[in-house]
This record gives sequence, C-alpha cells and structure tokens, in this order.
Amino acid sequence: MSCSLVRLNTVILLLVLFNTGVEAGLINIFAGVVNMVAKVLSNFAPSSETVSYATNMVIGYPLTAVASVVDKICTIGLGIKGHMLWGEVDLTHIKFQLRTACSKYTYSLRDARKLLNNSDFHPSRKVVIVVSGWTQTVNNSDTIDKMAKVFNCRGDVNFLALDMDQYLATFYIWAVQNTDSIALGLAQGLTMLKEVIPIENVQLIGHSLGAHIVGRAGRYFTEKTGEKLPYITGLDPAKTCLAAEQRIGRGDAHKVEIIHSNPGVLGIAEPLGHIDLYASFLRPFANGCMGVICSHMRAVDYYVEFLYPGNERGFIAKRCASWQHLRAEQCTGQNYAMGSKDYHIRGGSIFALDLNPRPPYGRGSISQCGARRSNCGLCQR
Ligand SMILES: *[C@@H]1O[C@H](CO)[C@@H](O)[C@H](O)[C@H]1NC(C)=O
Ligand SMILES: *[C@@H]1O[C@H](CO)[C@@H](O)[C@H](O)[C@H]1NC(C)=O
Repeated sequence: MSCSLVRLNTVILLLVLFNTGVEAGLINIFAGVVNMVAKVLSNFAPSSETVSYATNMVIGYPLTAVASVVDKICTIGLGIKGHMLWGEVDLTHIKFQLRTACSKYTYSLRDARKLLNNSDFHPSRKVVIVVSGWTQTVNNSDTIDKMAKVFNCRGDVNFLALDMDQYLATFYIWAVQNTDSIALGLAQGLTMLKEVIPIENVQLIGHSLGAHIVGRAGRYFTEKTGEKLPYITGLDPAKTCLAAEQRIGRGDAHKVEIIHSNPGVLGIAEPLGHIDLYASFLRPFANGCMGVICSHMRAVDYYVEFLYPGNERGFIAKRCASWQHLRAEQCTGQNYAMGSKDYHIRGGSIFALDLNPRPPYGRGSISQCGARRSNCGLCQR
C-alpha cells in the first residue's frame, strides 16, 4: 500500500513539473485511484464503521500528504508562469441566470437591473447567488440544480446562478487562474444589483473553487463600494493551487460561514471564516463516503438538506475549544445550528458536527423533501 502510494506520489510530481496543463486529468486520476481502492477495501471489511476508519487511515491521511505536496509545487509553478499561458476572461461572457422551477432567464452582469422587469423576480425577497466549482457550467451542474430545487421549493428567495461560460470547465490550473477575474465580474454585477435591491438581502454561496470566487467577489465589492456583503457561505473551499490571497476569508463579508467535508485533500483544512463547521472533524473522508469526490460534494448535500423547510435545526454543531480539540475529536462546547442567523460573531470559531452516513444526514433533520423522489421545487406544469 505505502509502496504504491509513493509511486502515485512520484507520478503526480512528474506530471505537475512537466506539464501543468495535465493537472486536470491528474486530479481525476488521483480521485479515481482513491475511489477504486476504497471500493476494493469495502468488499473485504466487515462493517461500514470499520471501512470508514480503514479508508481514512490507509488512504485518507496519506492522500492529505500527497495533496499538500501537489499544492506546493503547483503554487510555485503558477508563480513562475504568471499569466502568460492563459487568455483573459471576457467579462461579457459572465452572466446571471435567474432560475425558477420552470424557467431560466439570462442577464448580462451590466444589465442586472433588468431583473426588475421580470415578473418572476420579486424585489422584496432575498437574493441568493450560487457559484459552482471546477468543470461545471451553469446548465450542467449538480450543485446548481440541487440548490435551485431547494430554493424554489422554499419559494422565499430569488435564485440566481452565476453563468461562468466555460471558464471553470477547463484545465484545473486555468480555472484557478480565472477565479480572480470571474470574482471581479461578480462584484460588478453586485454593484449593479445594489441599485435596485438592498444589498442586505443578498447571500452568496459557493462550492469548491466557487467558494473562493464568492469570497473574492465580496472583497472586490467592498473595495468598489466601501460596503460589506452581509453573508457568504463557502462549501468545502478548494485547496489545490490557490495562493493565500485568492482564498475566501473572514474579511469578505459580515458573516462568512464555511462547511468542510474533505479537509486537507480537495478542500482546505484550516479555518477560514467566522464560523467553520467540520462535518467529520479532520477526517479526510466524510461519513459514509469512500472517496474524495463524494466527500468534496457532501458539503453541498448537507447544506441543501439543511435548507429544506423544517430542517432549520437539522445540523447542530458543537464548538471546539481549539484546533487541538478538533483534531482529538473532543468538541463539547456551545451549540451552533448550521446557517443560524443569531450567532454573535467574534473572530473565528470552529465547530464539529455529528452526521449520518446516509440521508437524512443531519441528526436533527425532519423534512424528507430533499429525497430524490420529492417534486418540491421542480416544475409542476
Ligand atoms: C423595463 O421595461 C420598460 C418597458 O418595457 C422599459 O422602458 C425599461 O427601460 C425597462 N427597465 C429596465 C431597467 O430595463
Ligand atoms: C442555459 O439554458 C437556458 C434555457 O434552457 C438557455 O437560454 C441558456 O442560453 C443556457 N445557457 C448556457 C450557458 O448554455
């Protein structure tokens, strides 16, 4: 096992050194190998509890080490190559998509005001803007589909997805390079929106690379307007190849809440926001997951389940006194309900969650609307 991991490690280093463009395929290979090994393991191990422990020990933690090395080399590579390889992002290609249960409407960022002319847009309601991660496009994104379904089921917000054209559906490294420009575009769109709706009504939600885009957009917005966005949610912010200044952070909004589900592998392990929720402590794999992709996506699944009406107290986390307590899986402090508005924010606090391996994930979730068979939020025509 350790021998093949060393080999995998070497292959990754060589690929990154000789052709950063191969990074995209590489992360796929990397995730594929893990998923495969985990599947094989699961055939032999007696119980899912044991499998979860074994996969974390045998694959999860070594992968965390590999991921860190990839990250270091990648960051150095980016530093050397700068912006020479990739073209500029054309901001006219970045758009808002207003999505209702039955319709999709596209607005260029500079025409965000025109939303007011759409009878499906309700100016008095909150506005949620969702940004998906690497490889996803607006009409081909699980993250956006799940989020649109739950928000349309709630029916209390205007749901906007950021249409980033193909700018994240490219080689990983190029996608990372594009995050800054996309964030700048989003900030411009927000500045337009601010003219027609109160900015206090806006929540940004981003998954993976999208988490960094919404964070950076919050900072650009503040630089442009002197105002701060109220609320940003970062779902398992991507770890690989991001420079410190590209990451989502506490300064990006009045409240920045982060949900970690694949810490140290595809997601960042360190706390980033005012509130950092660790779904399976610092274990690289989320409860019930055998691989990295599943774990990385779980942050979205948890948040979506939480959003279904009735699940407001579905995900109760316990405060960890320190990073050491989180590492030791001994978090016994104050309760915090995921997404809760009324939490007094001072600096940053870290929390751990105890979750089920299968839906309903939240130990306190009562609504089953999130179940695949539920029509809530889908077009009924
Ligand atoms: C809304 O529509 C009206 C009439 O169709 C038009 O005159 C107006 O300029 C539009 N407003 C915006 C913000 O586009
Ligand atoms: C997404 O789908 C909508 C409606 O089906 C379409 O109008 C829009 O152009 C599509 N956007 C992209 C980027 O493909």
